[in-house]
Amino acid sequence: MDARDHAKELAAQRALEFINDGMIVGLGSGSTARHFIRLLGARVQTGLKIRGIPSSKNSETLAKSLAIPIIDFHQTSLIDVTIDGADEIAPGLALIKGGGGALLREKIVASASKKFIVVADSSKIVEHLGKFPLPVEVIPMAAPLVAAKLSALKIRAQVRQQSSGGDYITDEGNLILDCDCGPILDPRALAAEIRAIVGVVEHGLFLSMAELAIVSSENEISILRP
Ligand code: A5P
Repeated sequence: MDARDHAKELAAQRALEFINDGMIVGLGSGSTARHFIRLLGARVQTGLKIRGIPSSKNSETLAKSLAIPIIDFHQTSLIDVTIDGADEIAPGLALIKGGGGALLREKIVASASKKFIVVADSSKIVEHLGKFPLPVEVIPMAAPLVAAKLSALKIRAQVRQQSSGGDYITDEGNLILDCDCGPILDPRALAAEIRAIVGVVEHGLFLSMAELAIVSSENEISILRP
């Protein structure tokens, strides 16, 4: 495990402090969330009683392999706490998420959560959002149209590709446009502009959602609040 991955694991470990018996826990996606799910699985195996709602098929598969009981929104509409990673964390806990392609379910799970906690290594902290390409999930047939509308907003959008070739398809069967927006100085205004484009399903700006962020470097953990 390299130093950055170790920092991710430390943040995930700290997040366990927010989990208690009986809770419904939102399970994030990505490498930091995977650390959390593995650690949570170990606690379940020693008697912790929780139920999980995963934010991606990958996280669901991992959780099931660890015997974490899984439920969905047919059983509850309220999650006690969700633990998830982020691609960028700016002041006020404005986030970019979706680097792993799961932003839609992640946002649904986060929005149903009493408490949304971000876990990350310190490389994710930025002064303002925008260096990381903003993922935007779109209906496949609308992708060229949405890209043209984004271009009119001076945003360059590229359809995400799989490493093995071909378009990346989300869990919901949509495409992801990775958007170079430049420095995002007004995330709320940008979110409104993108959301107004017909064919956009969801974007990776998570604003006013996170209650705290557990950010770890190799030897120090910080707790950030909005
Ligand atoms: C998944 O779609 C993302 O939102 C992840 O939470 C984000 O990309 C962070 O991933 P890592 O924990 O792998 O850095």
